[in-house]
Amino acid sequence: MRSLISILDLSVEEIDELIAVANDIIADPESYGELCRGKKLATLFFEPSTRTRLSFEAAMYELGGNVLGFSEAQSSSAAKGESVADTAKTVSCYADIIAMRHPKEGAPLVAANNATIPVINAGDGGHNHPTQTLADLLTIQREKGSFDNLTIGLCGDLKFGRTVHSLIEAMARYNNVKFVLISPEELKLPSYIKKDVLKKHGIEYVQTTDLESVMPELDILYMTRVQRERFFNEEDYLRLKDSYILTPEKLKNAKTDLTIMHPLPRVNEISVAIDEDPRAAYFKQVFNGKIVRMALIMKLLGVTK
Ligand code: NCD
Repeated sequence: MRSLISILDLSVEEIDELIAVANDIIADPESYGELCRGKKLATLFFEPSTRTRLSFEAAMYELGGNVLGFSEAQSSSAAKGESVADTAKTVSCYADIIAMRHPKEGAPLVAANNATIPVINAGDGGHNHPTQTLADLLTIQREKGSFDNLTIGLCGDLKFGRTVHSLIEAMARYNNVKFVLISPEELKLPSYIKKDVLKKHGIEYVQTTDLESVMPELDILYMTRVQRERFFNEEDYLRLKDSYILTPEKLKNAKTDLTIMHPLPRVNEISVAIDEDPRAAYFKQVFNGKIVRMALIMKLLGVTK
């Protein structure tokens, strides 16, 4: 039994395999339609979600499986004070695999340590979001053809943005990857990630508050939402929320083959005028997220075509 809590639970070779399966699903979706017949996915979402939960559910249905679960803590026994450990033991009696989102960092790990079925971290607080990273990696592979030799701009809330944390961990394993970290002073990348990932692996990075000045260097621009729900103080959120708004004007010095990404939901970070730009890849990420979750569910359930 294997769980996915951090993206580093998967080796580079396993990520290559998942991407190969995902590309095969895109090429021939019908051949996957019965592979999880009789299997059940439990989606335990203690925090709001549109894409992650619905894409997990759509993924399981497209594999011929079934889904059960809850989409808010208030409708589960957590509202009565049940622990994550007990919930995980309970759901292990009903399902074959769990996808869990929780506001507390580490909750999916606690679930994995207590469940008798695989647990997938679908986002834990401001910590990690490995399946968004799989969606991002599939998108990068399909847009760029390789993970090497890329300059990646990460812009917005780098402090609380869990998708950024997992993406940095994943991309740090490839060759000649550089990061440009663009954020307000208050929302800089946590120092533990700089120390344990970037410095440890000798990866080149710069930090700046100015998006436009670094735009010409970027191969990928990954925009993020300011994570309102992680702020202690609404005033700080209101002051910082519109720090970066990507408009067509700001792209004038960007590379013609830039890839513009965003895990979504977007609030104001990307003007809708950019949606028609061929460089916009954020709705491709949404599609890729469902596909790569199909590949992941198959892997963790030990199902092959
Ligand atoms: C992200 C998340 O939940 O961390 N959303 C997602 O899963 N695609 C990003 C966000 O909420 O800003």
